Amino acid sequence: MTKPDDPNRVLIFDTTLRDGEQSPGISLNTQEKLEIAQQLARLGVDVIEAGFPITSPGDFEAVQQISRTVEGPVIAGLARTHAADIDAAWGAIKDSPRPRIHTFISTSDIHIRHQLQSTREDVKGQARAAVAHARGYVEDVEFSPMDATRADVEFTAEVCQIAIEEGASTINIPDTVGYTMPLEYTAYLERLYELVPALRDVVLSVHCHDDLGLAVANSFAGLLAGARQVECAINGIGERAGNASLEEIVMLLHTRERDVHLRTGVNTREISRTSRLVSRLTGYPVQPNKAIVGRNAFAHESGIHQDGVLKERTTYEIMDATTVGLEANSIVLGKHSGRHALQQALSELGFQLSGQALNTAFKRFKEIADKKKTLTAMDLEALVTDELREEVAGYQLEWFDVEASSRRPPHAKVGVRAPDGEELTGSFTGDGPVDAIFRAINAATGHDARLREFRVDAVTAGQDALGETSVVLEAGGVTGSGQGVSTDILEAAGRAYVRALSNVVRKREAAARAQSPTDASAAEPVSVP
Ligand code: KIV
Ligand code: ZN
Repeated sequence: MTKPDDPNRVLIFDTTLRDGEQSPGISLNTQEKLEIAQQLARLGVDVIEAGFPITSPGDFEAVQQISRTVEGPVIAGLARTHAADIDAAWGAIKDSPRPRIHTFISTSDIHIRHQLQSTREDVKGQARAAVAHARGYVEDVEFSPMDATRADVEFTAEVCQIAIEEGASTINIPDTVGYTMPLEYTAYLERLYELVPALRDVVLSVHCHDDLGLAVANSFAGLLAGARQVECAINGIGERAGNASLEEIVMLLHTRERDVHLRTGVNTREISRTSRLVSRLTGYPVQPNKAIVGRNAFAHESGIHQDGVLKERTTYEIMDATTVGLEANSIVLGKHSGRHALQQALSELGFQLSGQALNTAFKRFKEIADKKKTLTAMDLEALVTDELREEVAGYQLEWFDVEASSRRPPHAKVGVRAPDGEELTGSFTGDGPVDAIFRAINAATGHDARLREFRVDAVTAGQDALGETSVVLEAGGVTGSGQGVSTDILEAAGRAYVRALSNVVRKREAAARAQSPTDASAAEPVSVP
């Protein structure tokens, strides 16, 4: 990607699907990653880092699908400096109209000595070979000296110089372990500019982790020092404490544009929706007081504040909630709405449904609308996401019966449709109705899965709100997550459980395939900070 002509344009590089997906407990399947990527394209990010293709056949497939389907943003695949990583990244992204290979190697002595068990000379050689190899495939190559902020700046400069000589068009300076501080990071980047004048001809990028709660502040400091790409993730997810949060950095630049004169290409009105989608699919809740996307981010509790906002919104609000798309909670459909109205409302939300997919969504909509008088845009989003998941789920919950009372332990019976179409039944007497359903599903499917996390949320406020459940379970050492939506919490829980189970089964099958000597995509285990 060439440097934008506008010197004040900041490129947004979203790593929700790569660094974000490395958060503990998150395991998205290809369909879910594709859905997030489509929404990121609607949000208007410049680059989507879609995954790390060498790490697993599942990751490779997801990056490939995204490259083949998502239009607009550059699609990047991550690779270590090994030739096999770069080959895999290229294999996965080559069908994108705008492919990028992002390759990295550490420049800090701590990493070189202990993790790579190598030398500075070797790192220079690897960086040179990797960028050259990647450039053999594609023009758009990004290079990252990992753990740069704990590395010797002179040595990091030498490695960046090599990467630029070999044709890298973006140089990203990661604060891999979230250690730096704003002024220190600015000074580091200014020194790099002095040591590598050619840095002015490429895009300088920042990638900050939040271990000390400074990821956004450090990224902003990097922009003030001259960087014009920020690597960030929706809801700030990522390794350990996460990455810089995309919504915070974007809204900071948007709200203070008159003072900082920097702008992004993001359609801010898509922010809330993207945040909800990522939270729903990853099972990672957003804390209520989270800046921009927390449910209290625009709420006023104290009487003085409420009074002020009623008189004049700007007394206590620096941003208008509609700027980040929060009006999406308006009522859109009622129980008498027809198929066409549903199709129209979904299209406004960005879901183009027709044929069988529309019929299925309409059937589900009618079932819910019978119980819940009005459906908001947020309800529709939750329902459609729930339905889309059905298409890829291995197992499906067909029905359940639960007998529960305060005098006897609850007993559940379930019917589960197996991937081959057979209906399996099972029953269990559990500690509570949810436990009974979960264990009855285990009995029906023959899996000894253990529940690791269970969460229930309401999609919107009100007594008839849709319930949304999120389940993380583990079976045979493999974890998987699943979500479910319904007006009935038990049904939502059952749906979430069978989806989590299906994800575990899929992962186990993929791992078994990857171990097979005939599978060319099998690779040594890979981990990235
Ligand atoms: O944190 C980090 O250093 C990374 C690199 C791969 C860019 O995620
Ligand atoms: Zn990172």
